[in-house]
Amino acid sequence: MLTIRGVLLERQAIAQRVEALGRQIAADLQAEGDRLQARGQAPGPIVMVPVLTGALVFTADLIRAMGVKMSIRPVTLSSYPGKSTTSQGVTVQGGVPTDLAGARVVIVDDILDSGRTLGLLRRLISAQNPQSVRLAVLLDKQKAAGRDEDVSVEYAGFVIADEFVVGYGLDFDGYYRNLPDICTMHDDGKPEA
Ligand code: IMP
Ligand code: MG
Repeated sequence: MLTIRGVLLERQAIAQRVEALGRQIAADLQAEGDRLQARGQAPGPIVMVPVLTGALVFTADLIRAMGVKMSIRPVTLSSYPGKSTTSQGVTVQGGVPTDLAGARVVIVDDILDSGRTLGLLRRLISAQNPQSVRLAVLLDKQKAAGRDEDVSVEYAGFVIADEFVVGYGLDFDGYYRNLPDICTMHDDGKPEA
């Protein structure tokens, strides 16, 4: 059974980093808007696309650090059904917007792991011909053997080792998302209840 082992990233460190990330993304969008306007092009609307449910907490903090006009279009994808701690292949469960042509899209997820989720989503969104697409993740999990899909993200809060973490939106079997800190887990060897 997996139980909480300890704190990997404390809430204060997360808050500081997310605030900085939000300000950076907003500044980059502002600069992009200025560049487009200088070329006589109208900057498209900013659309945040959080991947539910994991990106819920991260997005709530990130968008309040951005201070730009935006809309939010959450999507639901799942790759870790139930008690699994490794990716089982991505399924789209709903809500992928189909009207992103000309928009400036920021896809937000909790963690980049196998790369399948964000790889799929970037393809689905890029195919709609948006003005720009950026990926922002709170955590970038290092994979010694490489990712299933080699996705590069424009923004990452923290690089972490290849271990399963929960809290600040991340779950195990649907639980622990409300932990304020990001925690590692310990397997006591007993079967899951
Ligand atoms: P990927 O498609 O393997 O990159 O998986 C990304 C998704 O898997 C994330 O959106 C998370 O929901 C989930 N995930 C990956 N690693 C972890 C973890 O360590 N804890 C909790 N969820 C994770
Ligand atoms: Mg997720």
